Amino acid sequence: MTVYRNDYQPFPYHIPTVALQFDLDPEATRVTSLLSVTRRDGVAAHTPLRLDAEDLEFVSVSLNGQPCAPDRFVVDDTSLTVLDLPSSCEIEIVCITQPAQNTSLMGLYVSGHSLFTQCEAEGFRRITYFADRPDVMSTYSVTLRANRSQYPVLLSNGNLVEETNLDDGRHECKWHDPFPKPCYLFALVAGEFDLRQQQTYTRSGKAVTLQIYSDPGTFDRTEWAMQSLERSVRWDESRFGLELDLDRFMIVAARDFNMGAMENKGLNIFNAAYVLADPETATDANYQAIEAVIGHEYFHNWTGNRVTCRDWFQLSLKEGLTVFRDQEFTADMLAEGLDETSAASARAVKRIDDVIMLRAAQFPEDAGPMAHPIRPESFEEISNFYTATVYEKGAEVIRMMHTLLGEQTFQSGMQEYFRRHDGQAVTCDDYVSSLEWALQAEHPNRNLDVFRRWYSQAGTPHVNVELSHGPEDATLTLSQRCEMVGVEKSTGFAKQPFHIPLRIGAIGADGSKRYLSVHAEGEQAVQTGESVLLELTQTQQSWRISGLIKNDILSLNRGFTAPIEIAYEYSNEQLAALAQHDPDAWARWEAMQMLYTRYLLAQTQAADTTQNDTPAIANLLALVIDVCNATLGDSKLDQAYITRLLSLPSDKYLLQQMQPMNPLSLARAKHQLETTLGMNLADQLMECVAQSPVTQQFDASPEAAGKRALRNLALGWLNLANVEQAKSLATHHYDSANNMTDRLGALRALLLSPVRDDRVEAALAHFYDRFQNDPLVVDKWFAIQASAPGTGLKTVSQLLNHPAFVFRNPNRLRALVFQFCSNNPLGFHAPDGSGYRFWAEQVTRIDQSNPEVAARLARMLDHWAHHIEPLKSHMQAALKSVADTPDISGNTREIVTKALTL
Ligand code: TRP
Ligand code: ZN
Repeated sequence: MTVYRNDYQPFPYHIPTVALQFDLDPEATRVTSLLSVTRRDGVAAHTPLRLDAEDLEFVSVSLNGQPCAPDRFVVDDTSLTVLDLPSSCEIEIVCITQPAQNTSLMGLYVSGHSLFTQCEAEGFRRITYFADRPDVMSTYSVTLRANRSQYPVLLSNGNLVEETNLDDGRHECKWHDPFPKPCYLFALVAGEFDLRQQQTYTRSGKAVTLQIYSDPGTFDRTEWAMQSLERSVRWDESRFGLELDLDRFMIVAARDFNMGAMENKGLNIFNAAYVLADPETATDANYQAIEAVIGHEYFHNWTGNRVTCRDWFQLSLKEGLTVFRDQEFTADMLAEGLDETSAASARAVKRIDDVIMLRAAQFPEDAGPMAHPIRPESFEEISNFYTATVYEKGAEVIRMMHTLLGEQTFQSGMQEYFRRHDGQAVTCDDYVSSLEWALQAEHPNRNLDVFRRWYSQAGTPHVNVELSHGPEDATLTLSQRCEMVGVEKSTGFAKQPFHIPLRIGAIGADGSKRYLSVHAEGEQAVQTGESVLLELTQTQQSWRISGLIKNDILSLNRGFTAPIEIAYEYSNEQLAALAQHDPDAWARWEAMQMLYTRYLLAQTQAADTTQNDTPAIANLLALVIDVCNATLGDSKLDQAYITRLLSLPSDKYLLQQMQPMNPLSLARAKHQLETTLGMNLADQLMECVAQSPVTQQFDASPEAAGKRALRNLALGWLNLANVEQAKSLATHHYDSANNMTDRLGALRALLLSPVRDDRVEAALAHFYDRFQNDPLVVDKWFAIQASAPGTGLKTVSQLLNHPAFVFRNPNRLRALVFQFCSNNPLGFHAPDGSGYRFWAEQVTRIDQSNPEVAARLARMLDHWAHHIEPLKSHMQAALKSVADTPDISGNTREIVTKALTL
C-alpha cells in the first residue's frame, strides 16, 4: 500500500502516559500496556481508536478497569480498534510476543543470550498494540521482570526507579523516562553484560553517568567507545551549546542488528561493530566509524529526540541534520590541535571521504528507480527510505544552508529551532523556517524560498560552466538542469531551478595564486578573495570576474559546496595543473579524480569498441603517472591526504558516467591502471612502505593512521603489479603487524597478487585460526575473500557452507553476500548471469527471515536497465524471478517492482 505525504492527518487521540509491564521470556513474553487516552479537541465523539499491530498474540483489552465488551472492540492481524470511547479513559491491553521466533530483528528479539528491542521505524507495533507513529508522544513508565541469573541486567529508557528481587528466581526493575517521546524511541534490554561506566559533568555542572554495556569478556574493548562518547558530550556543548538532559546515558552493544545503531532515549542500542575496538582487532577505519556513530546517536538526543518528526516523510529532519552534525564532529576531532594548514588538510580528508560516499551511493540512487527527494512524497515501506538520499544528501542540504548562512547565523537558527519546537514533532519546513528567521534577522530581504526546492525535487542537478574572456574582464556563465527521475517521470510536474551555492577560485597555468573580484550582473555587490561564493538560483546566470588572465584555470565547487555535477571543458593539462597546485585541498583531489575518470572511461570505451590503444590515451596515461609521481614526492602533504589523492574513483561513481554500463571492462581498466601505477612508481611505493616499519609501538593518532593507509595502498599496488619482493614484503608485514589495519592491509595486498601461492593461503588460514572466536574479525575474513579479485561463485558457496557462516546474523550476511554482490565486479557480473541468479536466491532466502535486510540486498540491481547486454537481460530475469516469488515481503516487493517498472 502506498502512503502519501499529503494525506497526513493528526492522530485523533492523545496518549499522554504509557505504563508497560514485561514478563520477559524468550519463548513468550507477556506485555501489559496501560494507556491514558484523551480525545483531541475538535475530534468527533465515537471516533474509533485504531492501534497498530504486527505478529502479536492478543490476550485482552479493558477500559477503565473493566474488560471490554466484545462489541466494543475489533482485533485482527494488524490492528486493535476500540469503539465508543469516552473523551478520556484508561485502556489496558495484554498481549504476547515471541522474541526467540523473531528473526526480523524488529520489535523484541533475541541476540546471543540477551533480549533487545528495535522500534524505529514501525517496530513498536510488534511489541504491543499502539499508535505507532512519531507524532504520538507519551511519558513512559516501564516494569521489567525476568529470571535474575539469566538476565541480571534489565534496562529501559530514562532513570532506574526501583529494583526488587521477586520469588522464583526472578527480579524486577522499574524505569521512568521523564521526557515525552514517540514509541519508536522506546527500548529495553535484558541480559548479562560487562559494564564500563564513568561520571562526567555537563557544562552547567550536572553530574551524569555514562555507561557502556557489552558482551561478557569484551570490557577491554569499550574504552575507545567511552572516550568517543565523552568527546561527543563535550562537542555538542561547545559547538552547538546543547547539553545532555539525562542523569544517565547508556549504550548497549548487540551482535545481531539490522543497521548501525539506534538513538533510543537514554538507551542507545548499537551494532557491536560500532562499539568494540582494540588495535589487535579493529582497523583505523573502524575506530573512526565508532567515533562517528557514537557521535551520531548521541547528537540525536537533541536533533531527533527532543525535537522529533511529525511523520516519516520528515525523516531527513532528524537524519540529514544529525549526519551533518556527526560529519562536523569528526572533522573537528581530526583538526583538533593542528596548525592551520594541517587542520585544513585534515578537514579536507573528511570532506573527501564524505563526497566519495555520496557519489558512490547517493548519486546513483538519485538517477535510478528509487530516486526520491530528501523529503519523499510517497512510500510503500518506510524502512526502504532509510536511504543515502535521506541521510547523506539530507546532510548536504543542511550543509548548503550552513554555507549560505555562515556558522554564527546557522547556530542562531538552531537555537531558534529549539526555542520554537522543543518537545514537539515537527516538519522539515519548520526547521528551514527557523534558519530563515535567523537569516532575515541579518538580511531582511533574503529568504530560503528557492532553497526549499531541495526538499521537494529529486535528482542531481548538472551545472554547466562557461568562461569567456573580454578585453577587460571575463564573464562566467552558469546554467543548470536536472532531469526527471524515479516517480517524477510519471507525475510530469515541471522542475524548477535549485538554489546552488558554488564556491569558486582560480590558479595560474603555472600554479600561481589568483585573487578574484566577482560581480553579479545587474547587482552592485562585489566579492573579492582567493575563493568566492556564487549563488545560482535561476536556470542561467552570469558574473563578471576581474583578476583572471587568459590561461588561468578555474577551480570549481571548492569544498564541494553543492551536491551537483559540474560540466566544464578542462584540458588534460589544466586538470594536471589543478591536481598539483590547487590551494583548495578538496578541489585538488577533485581534479585528480577527473583525470583518473577521463583515463578510465577512455580506456573502457576503447576496449568495448575493440580499438587499439590510441596515442591520445597513451598520453593521458603518461600524464596520470606524472601527477601520481609528483603527488607521492610532495613532502608538504600529509599521508592520509596523499592516499585520497592517489585512490581511484569508485566503480559506482564511474559506472554512472558510462553508457551503457559495463562493470567488467571498468574493472579490467582499473586493474590495469593500478598495475601500471604499481610498476611505474615501484621505487617510490617501496619507499613509502619502508619509511614506516610496522614494528614500532602502535600509535593511534590520525597522522599514524595516514601512514598506515598510504602504506597499505602501496603494498596493494606493488602486489597487483607483481613487483619483485612485493609479496615477501606483504608477508613480512602480515607477520609483524601489531594492529588490524596493517594485518588486514597486508592480507588484502596478498590477495591482489596475480599468483595465489602457499604464502597467501597460509596467511588466510592463520588469520582465521587466530581470530575465529571473534565475530567482528571473522566478518573481515569473510569480507576480504568475498571481494578478492579471484573469488567467483564457487568460492562464495564454499564460504556459505563454512561452519562460521551464520545466516541469521546481518553482519555476517553483509560480510559475505553483500560484499560479493557489491564489491566483486568480476565475480558478480559473470557474463552467464550466474551472479545475478545467486543474488535472487539470496534475496528470497533472506526475505523469509529478515525482510529489511533482504530489501537492502534487493537494491543491488537498481541500475539493470543501463547495463550492457547480456548483463542487462540476465539482471532483468533475476529481478523478475524475485518479483514472481510467492509471499515475498512488502519491503522487497517495493524495491523489485520499482526497479522493473521505473
Ligand atoms: N535512526 C537510526 C539512526 O540513524 C537508524 C535506524 C533506523 C535503525 N531504523 C533502524 C537502526 C532499524 C536499526 C534498525 O541512527
Ligand atoms: Zn540517525
